[in-house]
Formats: sequence, C-alpha cells, structure tokens
Amino acid sequence: MKTIAARALSLSVAAWFAALVAGLWAFGIYIVGLYGVGAATGNWSRWNAVLPDGHGYNPGDTAGNLALGVHLLLAVFVTFAGAMQLVPALRARAPGFHRWNGRVFVAVAFTIAASGLYIAFTRGAVAGPYMAAGNTLNAILLIICAVLALRFALGRRFDLHRRWALRTFVLMLGVFFYRLGMMLWFAANGGPVGHTDAFDGPFDIVLAFAHVLAPLAILELYLLARDRGGAVSQFAMAGGMVVMTLATAVGGLFAAIGMWLPRL
Ligand code: HEM
Repeated sequence: MKTIAARALSLSVAAWFAALVAGLWAFGIYIVGLYGVGAATGNWSRWNAVLPDGHGYNPGDTAGNLALGVHLLLAVFVTFAGAMQLVPALRARAPGFHRWNGRVFVAVAFTIAASGLYIAFTRGAVAGPYMAAGNTLNAILLIICAVLALRFALGRRFDLHRRWALRTFVLMLGVFFYRLGMMLWFAANGGPVGHTDAFDGPFDIVLAFAHVLAPLAILELYLLARDRGGAVSQFAMAGGMVVMTLATAVGGLFAAIGMWLPRL
C-alpha cells in the first residue's frame, strides 16, 4: 500500500503533468495555427513571422525548407501526442497503442533532433553560439536516451526502459522548457534582464544549458525520492513538484498570451 508521502508525490506529479499538457497543447495550437495554416494556404510569409530572414521559408532552399517543414510537422506530434506515452491508464488499457506510439516517439526523437541540427548548421544559429551549443547537447542526449529506451523495451527490461523513456521525454521537451523559462524570467524581472539581442547575456548563457540539464536533474531527484526516498524526501520532492507545477502553468500561460497567440 502506498504511504501518504508516496501518494503526495504521485499527486504532485499528476498536477505537474496536467499543467504540462495544457502548455504543450497551447504550443501545438500555435505551431498548427502559424506554420500549418501558412503551408496549407500557400501563405509562406507566415513561416517568416517569427524566424528571422533566411531561417523560415527560403525560396530556392528546397532542402532547408523541407527540413524545417518536417521539423514542424513532428513538433505537432510531440506537442499533441507525445505526452500520451506517460498516461498510466493508456499504458495499462491500450498497450498496443503504447507500443506503436512509443515506436513513433523514438523515430520522431531521431528525426526532430537530426532536422533541428541540420537547420542550425546549414542556416546558422538564430540565437547565438551558446544556444546552438545547448541545442546540440539536447539533440545528442535525446538520441542517446531514445536508443537506450528502445533497447531496454526490446530486451524486455521494462524497469530500465521506463527510466530511459522518462529521460527521453524530458529531453524532447527541452525547447519547450526554454520558452517557458524565458517567459517566466522576463515576467519576474519586468523585462529582459541578462538577455542581449545576440543571446550572449548571462541569463542567455545559463538558460542555453539549463533548459536541457535542469529538467534532467529534477527527473533524477524525482526517481531517487520515488524509489529510494523515505517520507521526508518524498514530501520534499512533492513540494518541489508543486513549485514546478506553478512554474509550468504560469510560464505556459505567459508564453501563450505573450508569445504564441499574438502571432496567430
Ligand atoms: C533537440 C532537438 C531540436 C533541435 C536541435 C531543434 C532546433 C531547431 C532549429 C535550429 C530551429 C530553427 C531556428 C533557426 O533557423 O535557427 C527550430 C525551430 C523550431 N522548432 Fe526545433 N529543435 C529541436 C526540437 C524541437 C521540438 C521537440 C519541438 C516541439 C516540441 C520544436 C519546435 C520548433 C518550432 C515550433 C520551431 C519554429 C520556431 C518558433 O516558431 O518558435 N523543436 N528548431
């Protein structure tokens, strides 16, 4: 039977997951509304509304446009269907769906990371060298974790599979956490403190790596508290997850209102 501390921890994680899914759907609606509508109506200028010149739709650069198109299409899958992998009820009641969605998820991890790197290295870094380094780290770790999650699933080591799948999931959402982190920081400071146009301010440098490494560190703490922690550490982790839930909900709301909705 679950202790009260373990129950508090799983409730806090469920609350965070709900805030996460709401934010992901808002991000997905933005991607479909801006880029999807642009492609469907042939209004390619919509691809250049956020991405600077040479980074969005680039006449003549068929390979680059195609890579960006594939990247964005997969981003729609990640935002709407990615989180379904972690819903315990779906995993238990529809294992066939879980297996297929999981295979697609791993394929998407490879392709979205590869297309992102291709765009970054052929078109140049849009957000400076630190963010390019952080993104590259994100892509490499994402591919490694996806390979391990797949390997352990095929080897029927489901305990290890789950751990690596969670790491893959968190890394897949690095770019989403980046947007939330930026909006939260700007809102908390009343402006872009520590940020420069070249993305080389102190805040930019920290966030370039923190958006990849901080969620991973929080995940490891959660796994430790869940599997080996006593009541005190489980309650402490539950408290931490309540803070993460608020940060995710508020960051998602600020991003939706300040960044995504105005561009539709
Ligand atoms: C770790 C793998 C990833 C890398 C390396 C990466 C990299 C990139 C790059 C380089 C661009 C174009 C900007 C430019 O031209 O410099 C871009 C755009 C974009 N990416 Fe990714 N990306 C990754 C994963 C994702 C994921 C998982 C999502 C969705 C959940 C996503 C959503 C987007 C969106 C929506 C844009 C268009 C810019 C915007 O409107 O905000 N990316 N990405």
